Amino acid sequence: MCGIVGIINHQKISIKNDLLKSLKRLEYRGYDSVGYATIEGKVEKSVGEISNFLDEIKDSTTSCAISHTRWATHGGVTKINSHPHWDCNENIFTVHNGIIENYQELKKELIEKGHIFITDTDSEVISHFLEEELKSKNMVDAIKSFISQTQGTYAILVIEKGKNRIYAIKKDSPLVLGIGNDRLYLASDIYAFSDSTNKAIFFEDGEFAIIEPDTYSFYDSAGKALKKEIYEFTWSIPQEESVQNYPHYMIKEIHEQPIATQRLINSLDGEQHDKIKKIAELVKNSKRVVFTAAGSSYYASLLGVYFLNRIGINAHTLIASEFQNFMLVDKDTLFIAISQSGETMDVVTATKWAKERGAKIVSLVNVPHSTIQRMSDISLEIHAGPEICVAATKTFTNQVVSLLYLSWLLGFSVNMKTIPNKIDYVIKENEDLIKKMADELYEKKDIYIIGRGLSYPPSREMALKLKEISYIHAEGMMGGELKHGTIALIEPGTPVIALIPGKDFDMYSNAKEVEARGARVITIANMMDSDFKLDITINDGKFSILAVIIGQLLTYYIARKKKLPIDKPRNLAKSVTVK
Ligand code: G6P
Repeated sequence: MCGIVGIINHQKISIKNDLLKSLKRLEYRGYDSVGYATIEGKVEKSVGEISNFLDEIKDSTTSCAISHTRWATHGGVTKINSHPHWDCNENIFTVHNGIIENYQELKKELIEKGHIFITDTDSEVISHFLEEELKSKNMVDAIKSFISQTQGTYAILVIEKGKNRIYAIKKDSPLVLGIGNDRLYLASDIYAFSDSTNKAIFFEDGEFAIIEPDTYSFYDSAGKALKKEIYEFTWSIPQEESVQNYPHYMIKEIHEQPIATQRLINSLDGEQHDKIKKIAELVKNSKRVVFTAAGSSYYASLLGVYFLNRIGINAHTLIASEFQNFMLVDKDTLFIAISQSGETMDVVTATKWAKERGAKIVSLVNVPHSTIQRMSDISLEIHAGPEICVAATKTFTNQVVSLLYLSWLLGFSVNMKTIPNKIDYVIKENEDLIKKMADELYEKKDIYIIGRGLSYPPSREMALKLKEISYIHAEGMMGGELKHGTIALIEPGTPVIALIPGKDFDMYSNAKEVEARGARVITIANMMDSDFKLDITINDGKFSILAVIIGQLLTYYIARKKKLPIDKPRNLAKSVTVK
């Protein structure tokens, strides 16, 4: 993953107030470590988040610098493994997002030629490779040979000591040039500079560019000059970006869900109505609909399949990283990618693959102008607003609301209008009770969540939330599957959350089966007369959305009780741009 930012200007820019301020906007891509290098040869790095780094370092100025926020892949989370990396002569500095797959082979060759490596990363090979090539070539030819000899994925920025210039190279990892009034930016995505300019040029795979303070030139992998279009985007910065009076973004974003769903419904009734109607037409005219996604977005897609299958539409979904292994697509397939960020590498790869096979590409994204949006024939925006907490909350809900709306256009019975109020009611009605439940559950090692049909995807999403934010091992599973193995793990007191939508007697029986073995059963139920003490009652058909919101709150209050780093959980990143 990782986020990269470079800035170049005639005038001096501030490392803290310009470069690292932009980099901070990309911290959702990874926050293991941070570092920067200037063309004066100054390098500073540190393990941990950018805010701590800002406290540690003194500000300085330069006209050209590159920076990096890391999500470690190769090499531990240490200062030495943090980017930027340099060559033997400390003349070339590089930052990299992606993975150089054949780095071991290249590293071996370079070591044989006398290069000394000091990190365990794949990325360090870049600066040494360029150093070696520069012995007999100019930088453009060195970059061309880098492109032809390396395998893997990369967005790379390169600077040389004493030269006011940035070289930028891209394959499979996102990279964009931002054209500001007095400076040029290079970044993993437009969010790094969208507060100061709305003009950008996106790099395509195999392209590289040379950026000087007031000129830029783009080339293809063979070094042929390219003419690139400037893309003008609109991006308003809503108030939602600040944490306001909340202790964490997660709880703020949970509470925003009534507003966020209302905003989405308004847009689906309004400016996005033609788009969603076109998607509904595509669904009707395709032989089958195939979704792909990762993480929470995948659980939203499972609900999409449930809604569409109920109205007789042949729909399937598969986790993006396994898409090519287990799914077939052809020109009669409608492919729907769901991705909050629009950048998840596995989803991008599956989308490319489906596109090559002639499928029509539709996407649901939260981040406008993202890679997946730009690859799509039609892209719907879920209008959840910026989501800062790494865990998806309001974006999951808005993905499901979009899918419900689409299904409703195609004949699924649901009253869309009541969704925002129902969410508001469920939060207000249950938050205190959930805090008490968190006090009971926070020391548990394992929690099982069982669901069936409509409540199966929510069981998976709730388990994911519990794992990633409250660090409790949790398994969300089909109630019917429990007795085929997992029930062996149920001991007296093991918490089992049973999601019982409607009068689902099978789910009720599954809950009874674990209760008979001593489990502490907590029910989230709807209309069920039973002899369970109904812990939380949801008297509404929007069960799938509302049950997940209960799970979000439970996760949040458990994590708070455990004093965990809620918005930036360990080892995770919000946008996963490696395979
Ligand atoms: C990461 C995030 C998850 C997210 C998943 C898919 O794992 O931590 O919260 O659900 O990526 O991301 P996307 O942006 O494609 O929805």
